[in-house]
Amino acid sequence: MALEAGASWLDLNCGCPIYEATKRGLGSALLRNPRKLARLVAGIAEGTQLPLTVKVRTGTSASKINVQQVVELLQGAGAAAVIVHGRTAEQRYKKPADWTLLTEVARSHDVPVIGNGDILTYYEAQERLDGSGCLAQMVGRGALIKPWIFQEVKEGRELNLDASDRLGIYRQLVSHMKEHFGDDAKGRRKAFYFLPWHFDFFCRYR
Ligand SMILES: Cc1cc2nc3c(=O)[nH]c(=O)nc-3n(C[C@H](O)[C@H](O)[C@H](O)COP(=O)(O)O)c2cc1C
Repeated sequence: MALEAGASWLDLNCGCPIYEATKRGLGSALLRNPRKLARLVAGIAEGTQLPLTVKVRTGTSASKINVQQVVELLQGAGAAAVIVHGRTAEQRYKKPADWTLLTEVARSHDVPVIGNGDILTYYEAQERLDGSGCLAQMVGRGALIKPWIFQEVKEGRELNLDASDRLGIYRQLVSHMKEHFGDDAKGRRKAFYFLPWHFDFFCRYR
């Protein structure tokens, strides 16, 4: 089933490297046995009306990079697209995402590949899209650092928000949290837990 802009789809997360997930065979642990993963994906794809995407990493470790085989098998299993984060699970964020490998993967399969890793500016988004053969890109930390990055990509320019625009965005976040967590003591405790975490991201690349 093909992906359509604006429509819903189901995503299977095989990218998460944290021990709490991998010790139970979830997240990136699913990459250890690509054939088993393909059977899982075929089963889910058969049982849902929604297009199914799968998010993967390039492998579990530097000596176990198997993304080409994984994407090949996922294509055969009926994935509508594969999102590839260009790092191994073991790497976490230690080295830059491997866009050379992402490009090879995107160019050697018919299934659409969505590239992910280190897109923090509109020009990186443009360069990666033009040069990689990926259908699209996924932005992770860039969206936490600059929630307006999508507008920058759309407009092809840096927005350089001034202090009052930034404050407006921070206030908007607080009001979303109020709505989401509730405006009582419990809700405020949760908001106060998450806010410093967000502000840490906002303060990168000041
Ligand atoms: C706070 C945070 C939470 C994340 N949670 C998930 C997750 O649940 N599943 C997943 O596949 N990737 C998760 N990721 C990884 C991102 O989706 C993405 O693959 C990674 O950050 C690389 O992209 P980036 O360089 O644009 O950040 C998370 C990343 C961050 C920073």
